[in-house]
Amino acid sequence: MIIAIDGPAASGKGTLARRLADHFDFAYLDTGKLYRAVGLGVLRLGGDPEDEDAAGDVARNLQPSQLDDDELKSDAAASAASKVAAIETVRAALLDFQKSLAANPPGGKKGAILDGRDIGTVVCPDADVKLFVTASVEVRAERRHKELLQRGETSIYERVLEDLKERDARDSARAVAPLKPAEDATMVDTSAMDADQAFEAALKIASPVVAEKLR
Ligand code: C5P
Repeated sequence: MIIAIDGPAASGKGTLARRLADHFDFAYLDTGKLYRAVGLGVLRLGGDPEDEDAAGDVARNLQPSQLDDDELKSDAAASAASKVAAIETVRAALLDFQKSLAANPPGGKKGAILDGRDIGTVVCPDADVKLFVTASVEVRAERRHKELLQRGETSIYERVLEDLKERDARDSARAVAPLKPAEDATMVDTSAMDADQAFEAALKIASPVVAEKLR
C-alpha cells in the first residue's frame, strides 16, 4: 500500500504525510531530505551543487547517517538541493533507495508514504493513492516565514517569497522529473486550510482506499 504525496515547497505536504503515516501506522520517507543531504554534502566539500560529477559522487555515496542532520533544514541546503535535483545522475542514484523503501516498508509496516516532487510520476507511478498538495506561493511564503521566526532565525517575508518562487521555477522547469501532478493525482489546495483541515481532506481520499486494500 503506497501513498504518494507531491507538491511544491512549503505546501504542507510534509506535515500531512507524517500525520497520515502516524494515522495508518505506515512507514514515512521525506524524499526531499535525500536531495538536501546531497546538496549539503557538495557544499561541505567546497563544491558547486550544479557540478554534475561532484553531485553525482555525493549521491552515490550517501549514507543513512547523513539524513539526521539539523543543517538539512537550512535555506542553503534547500537551495543546493534544488540544484542537485536537476542532475539526472543524482536522481538515478537516489531512485533505487526510494523504490525499495516503498516496496518493502521497514519495521514490518503494511504501507509506505513518500513525499516529494516526483513520487506519483516517477518513483511510484503505481501508488494506490496520489495526492498533489498545493497552496498559493504567498501563503506558502507566509508559512515558511513564520516557521523560521519560530525557530529563532531571522527572516524577511519578501526574501522567503523570492526564494520559493526561484525554487518553484527550478523544480518545474527542469528536464528530468519536473514538479507536476500525476495525471491520476487528486489535488489538495491548502491555501485556505489549516493543518487539521488538510489532514481531514486527505483522510477522506485515502481512508477508503486503505480500508479496501488492507481488508
Ligand atoms: O521537499 P524539500 O523542500 O525538502 O525538497 C528540497 C528540494 O529537493 C526541492 O526543491 C526539489 O528540488 C528536490 N526534490 C526533488 N524530488 C523529490 C524531493 C525533493 O527534486 N522527490
